[in-house]
Amino acid sequence: MTGNQRPNAGDRDYSQLRGDLDRRLCVAPMMDWTDRHCRYLLRLIAPHALLYTEMIVAAAIEHGDTARLLEFHEHEHPLALQVGGSDPRQLAVAARAGLRAGYDEINLNVGCPSGRVQAGKFGVCLMREPQLVADCVRAMRDAVDLPITVKTRIGVDDDDSFEFLLDFATAVTAGGCDALVVHARKAWLQGLSPKENRDVPPLDYGIVLRLRQNLGEIPIVVNGGIGDIGIFTERLREFDGVMVGRAAYQTPMVLAEMERVVYPGSGLVNREQVVEAYLPYVASQLARGVRLHNMTRHMLGLFQGYPGARHWRRHLSQASSCPDAGIEFVESALAHVTSAA
Ligand SMILES: Cc1cc2nc3c(=O)[nH]c(=O)nc-3n(C[C@H](O)[C@H](O)[C@H](O)COP(=O)(O)O)c2cc1C
Repeated sequence: MTGNQRPNAGDRDYSQLRGDLDRRLCVAPMMDWTDRHCRYLLRLIAPHALLYTEMIVAAAIEHGDTARLLEFHEHEHPLALQVGGSDPRQLAVAARAGLRAGYDEINLNVGCPSGRVQAGKFGVCLMREPQLVADCVRAMRDAVDLPITVKTRIGVDDDDSFEFLLDFATAVTAGGCDALVVHARKAWLQGLSPKENRDVPPLDYGIVLRLRQNLGEIPIVVNGGIGDIGIFTERLREFDGVMVGRAAYQTPMVLAEMERVVYPGSGLVNREQVVEAYLPYVASQLARGVRLHNMTRHMLGLFQGYPGARHWRRHLSQASSCPDAGIEFVESALAHVTSAA
């Protein structure tokens, strides 16, 4: 089934949902990466992970093609909608649209450092306006009976003290935030690109841990640099949840290992099985007119570290220059890796 409406979306008792989501394993919102095709693939690997959409700007949800922007497949649940904005009224509109579309959580982006985002007054620069963020959270909470969460960083530019972070988190919690996701790096707004802002500022899990110890009951999900099972397990001992970004996308099978730490025996651990399970979805999307490349681009990392991985990537990448490429493209790429193994 395609489409964003679960058959019973309107009947669900959302008041039961708040706080019920299992946040132990989350996949980060990643613009241009975690689109619906990517999320469907990751769902096969990690059936229980809480997945996040790419950030969608609240103004686009209010004024744009809302149905298209918010569409997803029912298999993607549990799924959080990440929104960007700083206008409480508009965010409430976006949250209501998210509820109608069937999302399980609404998350506000207070972590993105891009210039475009600063100009629009949202993203990480909002860390300097805790009361405004609290108002945004409150407006969304009043609008919908879904968990409202905030994704943030540990600081911005020279505002990087523990007190700054604690003040921000305290205000947001008072606004009714149900969980905080903290990328354990600050952002440098001047001089670093968004990409550099994911690597250059050093990771500091210690300050996030201190926040958890000082903030009370609110669940804290830690994010940043969690790419292998050892670091994942360590962080999971310290926090209510762990959010994995680039590792989940670039080496998706690492998610299978993480899933099994949280839910022993769950998920597909065999790469070929993942491809086989994805193919019917790919076929259904091709039938809707989606180009093969829009799906295969998310599969490039599947065989990372395996014999034939380079062939797999090269073969699949060719789909981008063949607008009519069909499912046989994936099948022949799979033959490359299985024969190389
Ligand atoms: C390509 C890309 C796009 C991203 N887009 C978003 C976004 O839309 N919203 C957001 O909150 N964070 C975004 N991020 C940041 C990630 O959610 C995450 O915080 C960051 O990558 C650190 O986690 P990691 O080290 O596990 O990758 C993006 C990261 C990447 C690599």
